[in-house]
Amino acid sequence: GTAQIGVTGLAVMGSNIARNFASHGYTVALHNRSIAKTDALLEKHGDDGDFVRTETVEEFVGALERPRRVLIMVQAGAATDAVINELADAMEAGDIIIDGGNALYTDTIRREAAMAERGLLFIGAGISGGEEGALNGPSIMPGGPAKSYESVGPLLEAVAAQVDGEPCCTHIGPDGSGHFVKMVHNGIEYADMQLIGEAYDLMRRALDLPVAEIADVFREWNSTELESYLIEITAEVLSQVDAETGKPLVDVIVDEAGQKGTGRWTVKAALDLGIPTTGIAEAVFARALSSSTSQRTAAQGLASGTLSAAPADKKAFVDDIKAALYASKVVAYAQGFDEISAGSAEYGWNVDRGSLATIWRGGCIIRAQFLNRIREAYATDPELPSLLLAPYFREAVENGVDAWRRVVATATTMGVPVPAFASSLSYYDALRSERLPAALTQGLRDFFGAHTYKRVDKPGTFHTLWSEDRSEVEA
Ligand code: 6PG
Repeated sequence: GTAQIGVTGLAVMGSNIARNFASHGYTVALHNRSIAKTDALLEKHGDDGDFVRTETVEEFVGALERPRRVLIMVQAGAATDAVINELADAMEAGDIIIDGGNALYTDTIRREAAMAERGLLFIGAGISGGEEGALNGPSIMPGGPAKSYESVGPLLEAVAAQVDGEPCCTHIGPDGSGHFVKMVHNGIEYADMQLIGEAYDLMRRALDLPVAEIADVFREWNSTELESYLIEITAEVLSQVDAETGKPLVDVIVDEAGQKGTGRWTVKAALDLGIPTTGIAEAVFARALSSSTSQRTAAQGLASGTLSAAPADKKAFVDDIKAALYASKVVAYAQGFDEISAGSAEYGWNVDRGSLATIWRGGCIIRAQFLNRIREAYATDPELPSLLLAPYFREAVENGVDAWRRVVATATTMGVPVPAFASSLSYYDALRSERLPAALTQGLRDFFGAHTYKRVDKPGTFHTLWSEDRSEVEA
């Protein structure tokens, strides 16, 4: 075979990444379950570069130079397993399979082990950036055997987004690490969007600003420390006017947020790892609440209690919202990176958080100015206990904390829900608290279940004889 890479699964993401490889000078073997998609791609974009049209899996595998490199771009789950098995049957020892879908990291761990047994190298690569990114440069998070990256790394790095001359692609670690960090990326994406939504909602409901003006606020914010892809496209979406009704498009879109599952997985994994990713969890739950249609309908008319008046100084409150958004965003990233550290420790992946921040600066959905600061934070202190404690972020959050409190307080007294702003502020307050009511929780657990507790003043484990004379014994 002559093709340097094969792509199977030619829906939009697969087609676009195949074109991306071709336009970078690679010969790309194309395969799809139905040949129609392959032919459609060739007809429309055959001029992008060198493609090899193949119909069967055997033909596809035969078209590749050795060691063979195949990128799978099909739906996560059963479809991915089916394609992997078909490919594996046709491939030979030393060949490489890359799964570029949003696979669950535990599936990737399982698949990598199964392929290793057959002498094949398996890479689970998170790919972010949507359709546009796939075509012009995504952020790529490949996890798998280091040896496979020697062969595949240069190709992936060539097609990835580039920031300051550095590719937005690096070897993340073994087996499921790439898909794990992509999962957390998506969780952060959920949190980012929820925070943007709360900021928008406050401008709308607390300040009564017209949608077009809110779009301008986001446009303005995009030239500050908040500069990011999601803030940029928020301005775009809010500026869109519906052709049919003449209303802002956002007012004719049904307010029920969908989800394909990666945000939920992030929270499930965080629960298992014992990491409080409260910002991401609020974002996932906010989507679920928005889609609880029958309950929402039934709850219309529930008393609000007495609501306070809107802030008098709108301009000042918009600035407060900006500070709350920024601080809550720091919390979401801090929690996401904590989850990555915990996952990395649990599975022995040795993920470098600084490199991760580096490859998230471009290409991906959460790309932002901000990531440069995270990269610097980990460069200065690779063992940083929390992003909130990096001097830059600490100062930014401390400077904004009064505004953050005003926003949460105002939202609460005006009856505007801000689950992510409020929960992130509580996280911040809990983290910096010298004492937490967890001591009482321990006391209660000891009372009803003899679960024991530790003391602040001496080592050991203790139990109070609650149902006897209430003296303390060493457990
Ligand atoms: C990306 C996106 C991408 C996809 C999400 C959407 O990084 O390019 O995250 O992977 O758009 O899976 O997720 P939901 O449908 O769950 O919002």
